[in-house]
Amino acid sequence: VTNAFASTSGSTPVNVAHRGASGQAPENTLAAFDKAIEFNADYFELDVQMTKDGKLILMHDTTVDRTTDGTGAIKDLTFEEIRRLDAGSWFDQSFAGETVPTLGEALDRYKGKIGILIELKNPELYPGIEQKVADELLKRNMGTTDNSDIIVQSFNWESIKQFHEILPSVSTGVLISNAQTIEGKITNEQLTSFQTYADYANPNKGLLDQDTVDRIHQHKLKTWPYTVTDREWAVRLTEWGVDGIITDYPILINMPASAT
Ligand code: G3P
Ligand code: CA
Repeated sequence: VTNAFASTSGSTPVNVAHRGASGQAPENTLAAFDKAIEFNADYFELDVQMTKDGKLILMHDTTVDRTTDGTGAIKDLTFEEIRRLDAGSWFDQSFAGETVPTLGEALDRYKGKIGILIELKNPELYPGIEQKVADELLKRNMGTTDNSDIIVQSFNWESIKQFHEILPSVSTGVLISNAQTIEGKITNEQLTSFQTYADYANPNKGLLDQDTVDRIHQHKLKTWPYTVTDREWAVRLTEWGVDGIITDYPILINMPASAT
């Protein structure tokens, strides 16, 4: 497949499937991650949280309500309780029977096949989750050398700082929401701080413009904005020179220009 995108500097952004190819399959399931591979994504993104009994599972919301047939907070449910849930039917009946994966299952299944962007989701709810994620990587030899196929990111910057101290050989990123800026501006002070413990500054796409992309790069950080669902945004961000694009539709990025 030809990558249709090339910025004026000639580089093409890394294609990152958000929660897997979540436009085409139920988010954070093996079906969505398989689809990311099918659509030639370079990475897929996943969200990690922790069950009542300390298992690392993949889900975006802090409750199971939206993306399964169950109810309740992840932190109040055991792994066995969560594993019994159907994580596919809410999206489409053809995905009935999909289960909630563990982080370990995703690492085992996709190691060496596609990059994995791991988000520590609401880590403040799960004390010790940084060490547990590091242990899962180390157990599989995925954290001993500078491993560019794994990146760990979070909106909780303290958590990323902590993860970086535990496992400095793994790349890290800070996610930046509108609410974490003053009037939508990512400041040089913030970037100067991020560069001491992170490799990526990954903002909501609406926080970017040419100047902000340039300043991120001047601070020796890369940027993979989220979440792109249309081609106009993909083209605009590519022209600004972003390093990657986090999208629900990885096919958007790899679609030949002639197909539009
Ligand atoms: O990877 C970026 C993106 O996943 C952050 O937002 O809410 O989808 O986790 P959210
Ligand atoms: Ca996420």
